[in-house]
Amino acid sequence: MILPGLIDVHTHLRVPGGEHKEDFATGTAAALAGGITMILAMPNTSPPIATPAVLADTLTIAQQSIRCDVGLYAGASGEHLSTLGEMARQTAALKIYLNDTFGTLRIDDVPTLIDCFKIWPKEKPIALHAEKQSMAVAIAMSAVYDRPVHIVHVSRKEEIELIADAKMRGLKVTCEVAPHHLFLNQSDFERLGPLADMRPVLGTPEDVASLWSHINDTVDCIATDHAPHTLEEKRSANPPPGIVGLQTSLPLMWTAVTENRLSQKRLVELMHHNPKKIFDLPEQPDTFVEIEPEVKTTIRNSDILSRCGWTPFDGREVVGKIKRVILRGEEVFAHGQVIAEPGSGRVITANSV
Ligand code: DOR
Ligand code: ZN
Repeated sequence: MILPGLIDVHTHLRVPGGEHKEDFATGTAAALAGGITMILAMPNTSPPIATPAVLADTLTIAQQSIRCDVGLYAGASGEHLSTLGEMARQTAALKIYLNDTFGTLRIDDVPTLIDCFKIWPKEKPIALHAEKQSMAVAIAMSAVYDRPVHIVHVSRKEEIELIADAKMRGLKVTCEVAPHHLFLNQSDFERLGPLADMRPVLGTPEDVASLWSHINDTVDCIATDHAPHTLEEKRSANPPPGIVGLQTSLPLMWTAVTENRLSQKRLVELMHHNPKKIFDLPEQPDTFVEIEPEVKTTIRNSDILSRCGWTPFDGREVVGKIKRVILRGEEVFAHGQVIAEPGSGRVITANSV
């Protein structure tokens, strides 16, 4: 079974400042092992990717160490509005955080939000972390400034229903859902504690059912929100939110295909065509993923290539094994081994700028 190279528009790679959790070489190895050949990396690093200087340094490190194609997000910060526009050309999109999560990036006043929408070039995407009532703010911004917005990791019934209504009105809103919000719920948090804690938090069974019921219409993309933290950090007094997802996203979603929860065609739309279209991403010629569609495997911490080395899905049986990944005609992953060398991937931006 052949699928196109998958695109993850929501990955945390922790460069700069969090390399003990993940770096470009380890994160992109995990991506390839998960059938993902292109990722967009989030800016909530330390320092955040919110100034041209940090962006330049991060791009240099990326070019030397990525094994698949990577685009960077610019992070919106009220302190650095004067140089925000300068980052557009070398980044894939702007990320605006309207809610609390890991890291310091946050926009919590309307004047700064308006500035971000006015400064960022109209043809370049804006992605927003917008939960609960912040989502209404994000959708209103899209309507007022008549430009597309992409809402990241939607997790609640009320949110997916609001987006469905916004789309029905013709507003330019797209959204992604993370596999953990489709395959785990609050009871997993009770079982696993900090190992199943992330932002947004896991939903109720009703939230999860609502996300699944919108999988064929309102949901545009599956995105991992791969957010590695070490076990030591997770077991500390103040555990950070976030879990990995690059290697488990396709096996979980393929398992759902085998259970007739969505079609194979829909999976490819959610994990390749729609991300490419929404973020206007470049073509990767001769790029595909070979899977053994009926092979059952068990997800194991010991197989996790991410530097943090664990997953809340440890022990879960899935259907569909990733056999080989080809990127631009080169074998980059085969039979459990990542072959691509650090530095062989390309830094990408949106096509339009
Ligand atoms: O759980 C999360 N962790 N959600 C986010 O939005 C950020 C992420 C992180 O960077 O750790
Ligand atoms: Zn995230």
